[in-house]
Amino acid sequence: MSSTGHELHLHDPQTLYRHWEESQWNPWDIDLSTDRSQWSEMQDRSLMAFVLGSLMVAEERITTKFSGLLGADASEEEVAFLATQQVDEARHMQFYARFQDEVVSEPALIAVHVERAREQISPAFRTIFDERLVAAHERLVAKPGDRAAKVAFVTVYHLTLEATLGLTTFEFSTGFLNREGLLPGFVAGYTRIHHDEQRHIGYGVWFLREALATDEALGDVVRQTLRELLPAVAESLTPPAGAEASALGASADDLRGFALDGLTRRLKIIGVPLDTL
Ligand SMILES: [Fe+2]
Ligand SMILES: [Fe+2]
Repeated sequence: MSSTGHELHLHDPQTLYRHWEESQWNPWDIDLSTDRSQWSEMQDRSLMAFVLGSLMVAEERITTKFSGLLGADASEEEVAFLATQQVDEARHMQFYARFQDEVVSEPALIAVHVERAREQISPAFRTIFDERLVAAHERLVAKPGDRAAKVAFVTVYHLTLEATLGLTTFEFSTGFLNREGLLPGFVAGYTRIHHDEQRHIGYGVWFLREALATDEALGDVVRQTLRELLPAVAESLTPPAGAEASALGASADDLRGFALDGLTRRLKIIGVPLDTL
């Protein structure tokens, strides 16, 4: 199967598990000294405060609203891979918290950083992470054997938050920082996180494709979940006021176009083309 001219190759959970064993990194090995001096001299921190705040809140949610997936019905190989993802998400949260401790603010508990970061995020972001993700997780915790609940959760978590929202945020924020020569330690850590996310997203696409190949009716669960979620996702892919074009170097249309391209490609692989939503 080839959708973009490249050979399509999805890794199974066992392969992804082995990739994880070869991809360990330590958030405390990253040098933040340049970031610290640049941050203190930065004239306008509003764009980066918004990005950092969003990432801090997202990783806290992503870390603490995941365990239901580990309890859901799965093979041993899948459970082993998902255990690595749980560790990765905790590591990502720790990296962003360390960045808050050492660059943005003073050392504090993660909850304190998350609380402060919450002042930065948009209402659409709250809808996605505090309502939709939490509801999908609670449903899966209540019914670990329910295939539709698992499909809905992976559609929210892996396909929408990690792939559609996460990859777009990475693309444009690291593009901006690299162009400006800013926050090299943050970019280094975020790039390690991005590599981890590729494995997570790979799992999500693999799982959804397998689930739908076994039971076609689950395609409707993917469609319904996306219909409910995508308006808030489109809204949250808006640069903060004043940061558009001038600072970020990208418009809301650029962000949404990038996100939609990726989503379209993945939906095709999964077997739920976008135009059937
Ligand atoms: Fe993550
Ligand atoms: Fe992830």
